[in-house]
Amino acid sequence: MSKHIAIVLAAGKGNRMQSSTPKQFMTIHGHPLLFYSLDVFQKSFIDEILVVTSEDSIDYVQNEIVLKYQFTKVKSVIQGGAERYNSVWAALKELENSTCDYVYIHDGARPCIDEELLERLSVSLVSNHACITGVPVKDTIKEVNEKGYVTATPKRSSLWAVQTPQCFSYPIIKKAYQEMINTVSSGEYSSKEITDDAMVLENFSDERVQIVLGSYNNVKVTTPEDISLVEKLLENISDKKLENNIKMC
Ligand code: CTP
Ligand code: MG
Repeated sequence: MSKHIAIVLAAGKGNRMQSSTPKQFMTIHGHPLLFYSLDVFQKSFIDEILVVTSEDSIDYVQNEIVLKYQFTKVKSVIQGGAERYNSVWAALKELENSTCDYVYIHDGARPCIDEELLERLSVSLVSNHACITGVPVKDTIKEVNEKGYVTATPKRSSLWAVQTPQCFSYPIIKKAYQEMINTVSSGEYSSKEITDDAMVLENFSDERVQIVLGSYNNVKVTTPEDISLVEKLLENISDKKLENNIKMC
């Protein structure tokens, strides 16, 4: 049996949210935002969860989230780094000495995932070493130069907005990340260009990345107006969870 591990990222500062509480811990319908995605992983086929957070949030995550909600699949809560890719790299290194076949790298700031999505990704992993979730873009996308003039209009039919989870064969993403880290240290590559994990694989390996249809509801909480949106989206999810819990009792 293959081992599937979720890496849930919660080490960001949330500068664009401009909130004193990091956005991943803001309260939505009585629970910290991070609770929602951990709950989906906990109830899914995923074997283990690794949470990455800032040094001063480790105790909070352990006590107020992992212990409080009995997320038994969370095997460790570790310290992340200054940039998202540093946090991912910390997690990939942490898994070095454990058996791990596949990692599902997920933004803790995306609370609206569901188990069906995780299952679609796991099916894709049977025949691919890398698969990511995303949705076709609805808007026309323009390339714009630094002076604010349009320089190109890429063909919309080939454009997708990508989300997380992004899933990979562990040894393959670890090797690509190692290559990227070496290239960044030698000054040949700017880490500022890295905006997702798949692009590390695209730039530092020959692997193909498959897109799996995600959901327009799988938004990343980034700026203040996203809060009311996820409150609305999670209202239905909270109601469903409540119904299930009542049935279980
Ligand atoms: N993240 C992380 N470590 C970092 C930066 C980001 O674990 N050093 C995580 C965030 O907690 C979030 C996800 O990566 O769950 C996506 O990042 P983003 O939305 O950019 O969050 P922040 O970096 O916190 O926000 P901002 O860029 O506005 O500061
Ligand atoms: Mg960020």
